[in-house]
Amino acid sequence: MQLFLTLLLLGLGASFVQAQASCSLTASGGDDSPQFLNAIRSCSTVSIPKTTILNIATRLNMTGLTNKHINLAGTIRFKPDIPYWTGNAFFFPFQSQVTFWIFGGKNLTLNGGGTLDGAGQLWYDTFATNSTLRRPIILTLFQATDVTVENIRMTNGPEWHNFVNEGTNINFNNITISAVSTSSHGAANTDGWNVYRSDNVVIQNSVITNGDDCVAFKPNATNVLVSNLNCTGSHGISVGSLGQFPGMFDIVQNVTARNIRMSNAQNGARIKAWAGPNVGSGIVKNVTFINFIESKVDHPIVIDQCYMTDATTCAQFPSNTFIQDIFFNTISGTGTSSVVATLSCSPDARCDNINVNNLNLTPPSGVAKYTCQNVQVFGNAAPLFGTCTKT
Ligand SMILES: *[C@@H]1O[C@H](CO)[C@@H](O)[C@H](O)[C@H]1NC(C)=O
Ligand SMILES: *[C@@H]1O[C@H](CO)[C@@H](O)[C@H](O)[C@H]1NC(C)=O
Ligand SMILES: *[C@@H]1O[C@H](CO)[C@@H](O)[C@H](O)[C@H]1NC(C)=O
Ligand SMILES: *[C@@H]1O[C@H](CO)[C@@H](O)[C@H](O)[C@H]1NC(C)=O
Ligand SMILES: *[C@@H]1O[C@H](CO)[C@@H](O)[C@H](O)[C@H]1NC(C)=O
Ligand SMILES: *[C@@H]1O[C@H](CO)[C@@H](O)[C@H](O)[C@H]1NC(C)=O
Ligand SMILES: *[C@@H]1O[C@H](CO)[C@@H](O)[C@H](O)[C@H]1NC(C)=O
Ligand SMILES: *[C@@H]1O[C@H](CO)[C@@H](O)[C@H](O)[C@H]1NC(C)=O
Repeated sequence: MQLFLTLLLLGLGASFVQAQASCSLTASGGDDSPQFLNAIRSCSTVSIPKTTILNIATRLNMTGLTNKHINLAGTIRFKPDIPYWTGNAFFFPFQSQVTFWIFGGKNLTLNGGGTLDGAGQLWYDTFATNSTLRRPIILTLFQATDVTVENIRMTNGPEWHNFVNEGTNINFNNITISAVSTSSHGAANTDGWNVYRSDNVVIQNSVITNGDDCVAFKPNATNVLVSNLNCTGSHGISVGSLGQFPGMFDIVQNVTARNIRMSNAQNGARIKAWAGPNVGSGIVKNVTFINFIESKVDHPIVIDQCYMTDATTCAQFPSNTFIQDIFFNTISGTGTSSVVATLSCSPDARCDNINVNNLNLTPPSGVAKYTCQNVQVFGNAAPLFGTCTKT
């Protein structure tokens, strides 16, 4: 009996269980999701050759994997079948996000020079007349450890391009993101990256053209390095918004964003935290923005600790998200209006050790204005801000 079982297991091992080293996929003409899902389960390397365009028409659950490599030289295109995705995209309670693809597990690599095509145009146009439409994120790393994503293009995500959700040791390198609408309806909410409940994340050497945050640090993004990015048309490198949800405690700590070129953007370096009644709490601690070159940026430097809250309400209900040990160092370039930097904190000492050094920001004309409220500003550029009113 025991011998029989062993032989049976050996037989299974040889024919089914043992992972094939490498598989190559070609387009089937129909939905390629089933073959892609089968391949990732049974092969350690899945290759999508240069001329192949995989048509992803049903959702991709690729969680709990170990030691997998997707060598994407061709294209993975997410079919813009809005009725299908409306009912079937994976849902995350955090900001009610949905996604085409969850990719998770341990020791995963996605590279190869190819493209993830979100086919976003139909989504942008449909969203313009239906603001309740939930548009899927292209790639969600979910519960993933030791991941490398590199040498990949991402085009026209319907919404965010990358969501790093409950990840550790995640490395993005040489990613080109382009979300550009060809109609009058913008590519709204097309963030480059959102980092959430994740630790040890690096995003570097990448070029992003999009219509919302270039990189956003959401609740519990810790030990994150963002380096050498060129962001165009975005809403900037943003911490937050944090402290929105009652009962939740949001941490963003040990974050560095360095060597950033920011052009034609709404914000450069930004931290935003909610105030008012019925919000959450948290801490933003040890965040450094260094070596930013900005061009035509509406708000080159921003702290807003009364986010979405008017001054009177903020005075009554100051933010419970404290902001400490923040550095804006060596930030130069041009704004689009006279105010080039705003450090606006809640009353009652909710910001501490806020530093500005080597700022060289110029408005389109006239004298640059630096504004601040309820904060003592440190660093060699502090005199630019004068004395901040306390309420
Ligand atoms: C994804 O598949 C795994 C099994 O492989 C399952 O446990 C999990 O619930 C699925 N996730 C979703 C969101 O459907
Ligand atoms: C990671 O996975 C790859 C296959 O993609 C494998 O070659 C490599 O040995 C794995 N590394 C570790 C540390 O297990
Ligand atoms: C808007 O999109 C939602 C979600 O997909 C859908 O349930 C609703 O029917 C759409 N509304 C209109 C007017 O098309
Ligand atoms: C970056 O990725 C692109 C593909 O998107 C590739 O063509 C290029 O060679 C990569 N650059 C480097 C330095 O590896
Ligand atoms: C960003 O643009 C600058 C100036 O054009 C260039 O030197 C740098 O290599 C670019 N960085 C990336 C990651 O493409
Ligand atoms: C963030 O981490 C802290 C400490 O582990 C935890 O108490 C809190 O619930 C987490 N917040 C979120 C939004 O996950
Ligand atoms: C601040 O964060 C950086 C990483 O961004 C880290 O290297 C440094 O040790 C942290 N400093 C403190 C005092 O925690
Ligand atoms: C931040 O970095 C410091 C210094 O390395 C470390 O002691 C601390 O645990 C880090 N904080 C988090 C939340 O990882």
